[in-house]
Amino acid sequence: MGKVLIIGAGGVGRVVAFKCAQHPDVFSEILLASRTKSKCDQIAADIGGDRVRTARVDADNVPELVALIRSFQPDLVLNVALPYQDLTIMEACLETGVHYLDTANYEPRDEAKFEYKWQWALHDRFREKGIMALLGCGFDPGVTSVFTAYAAKHHFDEIHYLDIVDCNAGDHGKAFATNFNPEINIREVTQKGKYWKEGKWVETEPHAISKVLQYPGIGPRKSYLIYHEELESLVKNFPTLKQARFWMTFGDEYLTHLRVIQNIGMAGIEPVRFKGVDIVPLEFLKAVLPDPGELGENYTGETSIGCRIRGIKDGKERTYYVWNNCRHQDAFRETGAQGVSYTTGVPAMIGARMVMTGVWSGQGVFNVEEFNPDPFMERLNLDGLPWHEKFDIDLEL
Ligand SMILES: NC(=O)c1ccc[n+]([C@@H]2O[C@H](COP(=O)([O-])OP(=O)(O)OC[C@H]3O[C@@H](n4cnc5c(N)ncnc54)[C@H](OP(=O)(O)O)[C@@H]3O)[C@@H](O)[C@H]2O)c1
Repeated sequence: MGKVLIIGAGGVGRVVAFKCAQHPDVFSEILLASRTKSKCDQIAADIGGDRVRTARVDADNVPELVALIRSFQPDLVLNVALPYQDLTIMEACLETGVHYLDTANYEPRDEAKFEYKWQWALHDRFREKGIMALLGCGFDPGVTSVFTAYAAKHHFDEIHYLDIVDCNAGDHGKAFATNFNPEINIREVTQKGKYWKEGKWVETEPHAISKVLQYPGIGPRKSYLIYHEELESLVKNFPTLKQARFWMTFGDEYLTHLRVIQNIGMAGIEPVRFKGVDIVPLEFLKAVLPDPGELGENYTGETSIGCRIRGIKDGKERTYYVWNNCRHQDAFRETGAQGVSYTTGVPAMIGARMVMTGVWSGQGVFNVEEFNPDPFMERLNLDGLPWHEKFDIDLEL
């Protein structure tokens, strides 16, 4: 029995609140806080039964966060606001001595660059305070990191090649929309590609490397090598890796829109003076694009995300593929949110359960692959994200 403070009432926050509310034995009290309180109120009303209380908070403001934490006294703060808020929320957790969890690593607003260094630097302060921060506990990062830890623990003596494959074969019926916060999403997919090879990072032009991959239950989809944040912690925590890459599917239509957006300067993060006001083009673009939280109703199809791993077991080469498929319609029926929010929110709830029940414990700042993957894998099957595995198949990569 414990109290959780969820910060951020977007698509992911909706799913986290719904899923925490399903487990009163673990989350006996839930407070959902965001910049816009009416969004929290709507989610709480959709859940019903007075399970979720709501509050307004500006998560860029440490004293405001500290006051909210002191008044509610949660056991854990679950951050599903934006990556910009990670450090202020961690600071507030340090000041109040409360565990912290997030799903995306810190990114400075003025530089489209996500790295763990700012959050890892807080390790000693979290350790001295006797609390833990669990970083990157969504699907990717999150489940993909747990999948890797599970493979390394049970099926390999050494893992050598890791390919994380992320396919969204959903159709939301819009000409162009992003599946989570447009600003964060566009910053992520327009940056240079990067992968780990023989102890070094190799950089590529954006979307320069692609390959058609077969996804279970979906079929062939063109997949592009992009940089993704879990690669940074996975190569550190699994030093036997000779190569680690991340692939994501994009449709031609999506990429054409993205190219136009970039070419006309709308993906820019430098302020532009317009009618006497400074406007950041990407922030303005977010305001006119469809709200990812509203895509759910007409979203059909499914996501398929997994890890394709090659390594050595008992002196022989082995391959292993572990994945989850999630149908957008099922996610929407259960929580009112589409599959990408669902696949992020469910693992965030499971991670909070692991910490609040003491199944995962530690003092300091950790990534999810540093803990025993087994109880987490078990919960995925129980909480709506069942996984499947295949051995000794052609990984295509
Ligand atoms: N690991 C994964 O697999 C994965 C996948 C997808 C997304 N994510 C991460 O999940 C997080 C949430 O994504 P989302 O799609 O739910 O985004 P979203 O729909 O844009 O929601 C973000 C929420 O945070 C709130 N917020 C923003 N700034 C705030 C502030 N200063 N103070 C308080 N609240 C603030 C927003 O409030 P307002 O609405 O009032 O502005 C909004 O409700 C992001 O960090 C994203 O990167 C992780």
